[in-house]
Amino acid sequence: MVLRKIQIKNNIDMALLKEEGNYTHVVAIDFGTGASGYGIAPKVLDPSQKPKIEVFNPCDESDDQKTPTAILFDNAFKFIAFGSQALTKYAEILDDGGSALLFQTYKMHLLHMDKNAMSADGRELALMTVISQTLKFIAQKAMDKLTEQVGKVVPTKIRWLLTVPALWSEEHKQFMRKAAIEAGIIDALDSQQLLLCLEPEGASIQCREDSEESLRSQLVKPKVVMVLDCGGGTVDITVHRLLCGLSERFLCEELLPSSGGCEWGSKFVDQYFEKFLQELFGAELYATYSKNAMARLDILKHFEMLKRKFCPGVEERTRLQLSYLGEDLTSQKLGELLAEYNKKHP
Ligand SMILES: Nc1ncnc2c1ncn2[C@@H]1O[C@H](COP(=O)(O)OP(=O)(O)OP(=O)(O)O)[C@@H](O)[C@H]1O
Ligand SMILES: [Mg+2]
Repeated sequence: MVLRKIQIKNNIDMALLKEEGNYTHVVAIDFGTGASGYGIAPKVLDPSQKPKIEVFNPCDESDDQKTPTAILFDNAFKFIAFGSQALTKYAEILDDGGSALLFQTYKMHLLHMDKNAMSADGRELALMTVISQTLKFIAQKAMDKLTEQVGKVVPTKIRWLLTVPALWSEEHKQFMRKAAIEAGIIDALDSQQLLLCLEPEGASIQCREDSEESLRSQLVKPKVVMVLDCGGGTVDITVHRLLCGLSERFLCEELLPSSGGCEWGSKFVDQYFEKFLQELFGAELYATYSKNAMARLDILKHFEMLKRKFCPGVEERTRLQLSYLGEDLTSQKLGELLAEYNKKHP
């Protein structure tokens, strides 16, 4: 697979790159701050061939988008669900008056090397448990899918690939390798079966693969490209010099150390959206909204859809569905709230 040729400044991975493993498939897990998914590609036998990569949503067979990175444990810290299923289940539990531990955006905890992740209701659980259970769930889904596709799968013949932000240190990468061991993906820290892929390098490959011929022909040595990888939690900025010709596999060198920020991701857009709702609704209705877990989930899902459709510079009316709040927000009340809001923000 192309990713094998990337120069990675990680001693373990550098050593691995020299080894051409005896694997049949590459399974890549994209563990993101906001959303996660996986991809499967059979090993490319002929180097002139393009890898055939299929991407999957671990929670929804009919969707090829990633699923929200959210994981749910019961009050005895037992895993309940992951992804969109975790969000729905959690909302149901809350609406039934129960409690559970829902974790989101925990990838950002790793950036600070926090020992624990914090649940939505303020309880703590070891970050290693939360992340390894995440990997375990996605890896199991990938194994199920691969088994469905090819019949019997020999686990030792899978090369696993895990995405990591370029900003992460060796310590962060070691943490992910340990989490992969706990998840049952590999059995040793230096296992040749797992490669870590720097996210902007993965993005760079993808852009090159997907670009039109006129652009692709420019993405050749010795061009320098800057990759801005705008994720949910972090924005990674990387500057590469391409070392590959037009028909060669991707190869680059990093010209500058990766930089970026962990306060720039689009999760903050979501947070500002809820701040906006808080002001629009006022304290009483916002408290109702916060308590109505299912309605809140549906409204946030709808906002996510609108956000993805947003096109800067195009004047377009957008309708945000708030009717999930039912009788707590009648159209008359909404009209009054909007008039009040618009008066404050002419
Ligand atoms: N077309 C789009 N327009 C605007 N925002 C988008 C679009 N597609 C995705 N996003 C936003 O980008 C964010 C997620 O991006 P992505 O899935 O790349 O990040 P991630 O992998 O979860 O995070 P990270 O890579 O930082 O760990 C989400 O908040 C999503 O709403
Ligand atoms: Mg990502």
